[in-house]
Amino acid sequence: MKTLVYAHRGASKLAPENTMPAFQLAYEMGAEGIETDVQLSKDGIPVLIHDETVRRTTNAIGFVQDYTYEQLQNLDAGSWFSEKFENTPIISLEEFLAWAEGKNIDLNIELKNNVIDYSDLEKKVYQLLIKYKLARRTTISSFNPASIERFKHIDRKIATALLTSQRIKGLVDYAAGLGAHALHIKHRLLNSAIVEQCFEKDMALRVYTINRVSLMKKCYQLKADAIFTDVPDIAIDQRQLFTG
Ligand code: G3P
Ligand code: MG
Repeated sequence: MKTLVYAHRGASKLAPENTMPAFQLAYEMGAEGIETDVQLSKDGIPVLIHDETVRRTTNAIGFVQDYTYEQLQNLDAGSWFSEKFENTPIISLEEFLAWAEGKNIDLNIELKNNVIDYSDLEKKVYQLLIKYKLARRTTISSFNPASIERFKHIDRKIATALLTSQRIKGLVDYAAGLGAHALHIKHRLLNSAIVEQCFEKDMALRVYTINRVSLMKKCYQLKADAIFTDVPDIAIDQRQLFTG
């Protein structure tokens, strides 16, 4: 099995993260998956943005949860990245799923509820996955273990992943105990022992964020199930060179 290439917030080295141009580019580059981050607007609409505040990636300030969806749509989420992307909007999860519906690509929806525990985020994301019939090729991930458990209660068949950057003793057993299907780890946690443990538990192991060629090679060598990268084009080329 080859290590899959998942575009981290889309092809986020070449287009503003978590926007349609970044997703479209990742798809055109041939990424096997797309990772994105979801939070709730003031009026409870799941929207795609990484930080809890809009400051870094838009022309405004303040918390995502203090803006209505309509207000968020009117922010410029592209100019911070480059003039070329001026007025690129923040999009909703629903727009993203409608775009992904007819495309053969895996999805990883990261629930950004480890700082602000948005009420009903799991239920809202689930309802959209069902509406667009995308549950079977989506993994739901979170740094918040309680959120994984909540998702399990909604529908235990949907793939979930525990995210972590912490070197915790018994991590794989802990994730398995939560009912997670996968572990998404920061690259410094990757070694052959964790690969082996995940294999024994039948858990997928995916690694973030892999932008350096040396790290890509390490992931390919250890046969991680997937990597998250801002540069899917480079990761795909390197995989081709690695596997021959
Ligand atoms: O899902 C992998 C990765 O995105 C987790 O960290 O902060 O980039 O969302 P972050
Ligand atoms: Mg993320």
